[in-house]
Amino acid sequence: MPSNTAAWLLTNRADIEVESAPYTPARENEIVIKNHAVSINPIDWITQRAGELIFSWIKYPFILGSDLAGEVVEVGKNVSRFKVGQRVLGHAVGTDPNRNSSAEGAFQKYTVVLENMAAPIPSNMSYESAVVLPLGLSTAACGLFQKDHLALEYPSLLAKPTGNTLLVWGGSTSVGSNAIQLAIAAGYEVITTSSPRNFDYVKKLGASQVFDYNSKTVVKDVIQAFKGKTIAGALAIGSGSAEACLDIVHACNGNKFVSMATFPISFQKLTKGSNIRLHFLLQLPKILWFGISMLVKSRIRRIRTKSIFGSSLMNNEVSRVIYEDFLPKALEEGKFVAAPNPFVVGTGLEYIQAGLDLQKKGVSAIKVVVSL
Ligand SMILES: NC(=O)c1ccc[n+]([C@@H]2O[C@H](COP(=O)([O-])OP(=O)(O)OC[C@H]3O[C@@H](n4cnc5c(N)ncnc54)[C@H](OP(=O)(O)O)[C@@H]3O)[C@@H](O)[C@H]2O)c1
Repeated sequence: MPSNTAAWLLTNRADIEVESAPYTPARENEIVIKNHAVSINPIDWITQRAGELIFSWIKYPFILGSDLAGEVVEVGKNVSRFKVGQRVLGHAVGTDPNRNSSAEGAFQKYTVVLENMAAPIPSNMSYESAVVLPLGLSTAACGLFQKDHLALEYPSLLAKPTGNTLLVWGGSTSVGSNAIQLAIAAGYEVITTSSPRNFDYVKKLGASQVFDYNSKTVVKDVIQAFKGKTIAGALAIGSGSAEACLDIVHACNGNKFVSMATFPISFQKLTKGSNIRLHFLLQLPKILWFGISMLVKSRIRRIRTKSIFGSSLMNNEVSRVIYEDFLPKALEEGKFVAAPNPFVVGTGLEYIQAGLDLQKKGVSAIKVVVSL
């Protein structure tokens, strides 16, 4: 068996340490991928610094990470889509409560990935480019296509216009970059928000109109943009997005549904030495106020809301729709681009901590990537 190495979170709130790790073979419906690049998501540093409050089921030592790209080294029983040596990207789901497994964390040399959460990548696409996709793509897909969320038409290479318009609040985020493209490929017009520096970026991805989410008049302006259109619902990404989307959806005709990607509290100020329980207690009034005001406003206005859990598609047909039916051909034909662009912090698992720290500081339309 190959020897494995991982970027371990040895205990809650510790810094990452690189040490040897067991190699876990593929079981039924699984593949093992030798990772050539991994990328960092906000949930990685949030779990590192606030683990027991977010993913209470995690037992330390643990291996974090959702996004990987590399080559298949082993295929399990019942796997027909992949062969050894194939170049792929994968969404590793080790932190999902139903998996709860370090073998399925991305931040190591060899990761076990569910077959329905992986896709081949074109021969001319670098691992560093491909690895920006998985969690952002999955999260956007859960919000847009799951029947318990916006339940939009599925994406295809020949999208038929639906005549409806989707609001993606936070289009320049990693989740938003995927959501815009997926919605366009499903036949929807997209109106979005970002900072002015990213207006051209989100338009290139396909948004028809974009508004500055920091503008005092943004909610009014977006409502105006929806005049005469039928809203397909809203995907709320970023702090304050749920409240804004609720007001906009209320004022529009169409699907009264807000699918929410972002926690109502910020974890950005948490450090290694932070008292996490105190931090949480101090934010409790904000969380309670968010919960109560969202509940009251949505009930009175008859708007449905639901929080996204970005790995939930692994349990339903949306994973197949995205990772099997749509993505491989769409990447091959250039109908879907790997966005946002990768920013490579270094080569080697030793750079995972630097990557986590950089993502936590805040990024703009880039994905923090570590080459392996
Ligand atoms: N529920 C889930 O399963 C799940 C999964 C993945 C991510 N998420 C959440 O989704 C959000 C986005 O994650 P990500 O990885 O896509 O983030 P990201 O790429 O790291 O986000 C960076 C972007 O956030 C934008 N931004 C900052 N504040 C914003 C605000 N108030 N409203 C709208 N946009 C804002 C910035 O846009 P400008 O530079 O244009 O200002 C920047 O480009 C995070 O809250 C994350 O925790 C949830």
